[in-house]
Amino acid sequence: MPKSLEIICTIDELRTKIASWRRGKLRIGLVPTMGALHGGHLSLVARSVADNDRTCVTIFVNPRQFGLGEDFMDYPRDHQADTQALEDCKADLLFAPSVEEMYPTGSVTSVSVIGIGDILEGEFRPDFFKGVATVVIKLLFQVLPDRVYFGEKDYQQLCLIERMRSDLDIPVEIIGCPTIRERDGLALSSRNIYLNKEQRSVAPGLHRILIETGEHFHTSNNSSQAISKGKKALIKSGFTKVDYIAICDPATLNQAEQNTGSVRVLGAAWLGRTRLIDNVEL
Ligand code: PAJ
Repeated sequence: MPKSLEIICTIDELRTKIASWRRGKLRIGLVPTMGALHGGHLSLVARSVADNDRTCVTIFVNPRQFGLGEDFMDYPRDHQADTQALEDCKADLLFAPSVEEMYPTGSVTSVSVIGIGDILEGEFRPDFFKGVATVVIKLLFQVLPDRVYFGEKDYQQLCLIERMRSDLDIPVEIIGCPTIRERDGLALSSRNIYLNKEQRSVAPGLHRILIETGEHFHTSNNSSQAISKGKKALIKSGFTKVDYIAICDPATLNQAEQNTGSVRVLGAAWLGRTRLIDNVEL
């Protein structure tokens, strides 16, 4: 009989389900998302389905990781399309709690990952990583997975969760999965739907220019020159503002000074009111 997707919205029901899986000694994979699922999310789900006996996907648009004036209210939500996509991917369980269920009145505890949470994205979105770390640790305690899946698309998030796992001795394996892109190089993102036609044609430039920045660093061994060239190229190509381009050590995200070994080039730039992030390994 084909497996079908079960949908659960409360932590109590979730715990009952997880306990029955655990009694059966089933390996559990967790894929945390904020919904508006696309091929990037679904690649994580497919990987988890392949690796584990059961896969739980969570959809929760987490208010604590949105700053004032950010798009929490407008963030795309499409329950019907999401559940259909998860059925098609053979996920076993969708946990989709309400904000009240996750953060009942009086809930004040949060997790801060100092250092790696304060740079790059953390500098431009001050409470973002506190919100991410808090919701991810809650989901880990709720689902108690053997493995949890994150995309390299949000590379700093992946590094930060790995830091938190290590610091707090969380017994879970973190699996980083490659970024899924459109044919023209644009990383799939739920926020791409905000782009108009003209912005959409400029958007792949972020990926291209991050690669060029890394190549320039490799030949010149001069990170500030490579970064400044990359920022200028972004503006010239039609981006309206650049938050940062950074050339980093792939594990710590500290600035890479020398072009010895591999580096990660990360960037964030705006097209009108839409902010895009991307990164490449070199
Ligand atoms: P969201 O942006 O919905 O992304 C959920 C997961 O999908 C993240 O691990 C993200 O890195 C991954 N992902 C997104 N686009 C991808 C792409 N093009 N290729 C591969 N993976 C991709 O990231 C979050 O939600 C939230 O911060 C969350 C971790 C769920 C906490 O609220």
